[in-house]
Amino acid sequence: MGKSKVLVVGGTGYIGRRIVKACLAQGHATYVLQRPEIGLDIDKLQVLLSFKEQGARLVEASFSDHQSLVDAVKQVDVVICTMSGVHFRSHNILVQLKLVDAIKEAGNIKRFLPSEFGMDPARMGHAIEPGNVTFELKMTVRDAIEKAKIPFTYVSANCFAGYFVPNLSQLATLIPPKDKVGIYGDGNQKVIFVDEADVATYTVKTIDDPRTLNKTLYLRPKENILTQRQLVDMWENLTGRTLDKYTIFAQDFLASMKGMDLAGQVGVGHFYHIFYEGCLSNFEIGEEGEEASELYPEVQYTRMDAYLKRYL
Ligand SMILES: NC(=O)c1ccc[n+]([C@@H]2O[C@H](COP(=O)([O-])OP(=O)(O)OC[C@H]3O[C@@H](n4cnc5c(N)ncnc54)[C@H](OP(=O)(O)O)[C@@H]3O)[C@@H](O)[C@H]2O)c1
Repeated sequence: MGKSKVLVVGGTGYIGRRIVKACLAQGHATYVLQRPEIGLDIDKLQVLLSFKEQGARLVEASFSDHQSLVDAVKQVDVVICTMSGVHFRSHNILVQLKLVDAIKEAGNIKRFLPSEFGMDPARMGHAIEPGNVTFELKMTVRDAIEKAKIPFTYVSANCFAGYFVPNLSQLATLIPPKDKVGIYGDGNQKVIFVDEADVATYTVKTIDDPRTLNKTLYLRPKENILTQRQLVDMWENLTGRTLDKYTIFAQDFLASMKGMDLAGQVGVGHFYHIFYEGCLSNFEIGEEGEEASELYPEVQYTRMDAYLKRYL
């Protein structure tokens, strides 16, 4: 059986462009949606052209034109959607419902991977407001997929390294703290960090794999399951400098939401579940899921000390 043809929707985005790269690297005929709405966004256009140079095919279609989406979907076997879903960037998760309608009508798709790539929304029913919106919207998309009987895989990628690792998991910055670092509670909850390129590699590995049909693929590369304290230790070992550490108590952390904008409040909520509750690692994967590094042990995933070296 040949490799599936893949359409990436949202291909110029942060995780999307890595998924396009991984599709090409793994030898899939790769199609990337090109939306007329990008208009004069020359950066996006350049990214799309660079995909074409690397062997991808650009497919014009618009979320405002149902038939164009159906026609795009009909050209491939698998659709991977990386629609935006980060409040401080752009958040359009429900736009995917139009894609679900198109996939349903086209009727040829063997696997759909909606834009997830984070915590498992099915396990976040208890999430605090307003951060719960992320999970609720992703569940709305899941419901539509399952109602339409579209074969799926959901990818629970845990923490993208770039957002959580170099900053030693400090909010509102992406670069390493220079002098002091806030530790969430005792700093000992197990968190799972994944290099974004590895997120893409595992995601593409799974699309033709019958073991992940209608399941959730959890990314839990063993050596990247670390506490915040272990992460701070890693950075201190690399720099040879010790940072001042101060404890951020859970109630103070939650109280810090007051006066923040929506994006800030969502961020605090998500960090709370990850760093105080341990929501990424406090469950066993059951029948509904598979673990990526076990399914694909051949992937040489990036360890977080190597990831951190980029920031020295
Ligand atoms: N686990 C983590 O740590 C983590 C971190 C960040 C994100 N995520 C998740 O990863 C997923 C993707 O996030 P991202 O940050 O990669 O997204 P992003 O870069 O902000 O955006 C991805 C793409 O969404 C498309 N898009 C945005 N608004 C649109 C609209 N109105 N209509 C049609 N397309 C639109 C654009 O596609 P075009 O290429 O067509 O312009 C854009 O490039 C989300 O589900 C998010 O929750 C997880």
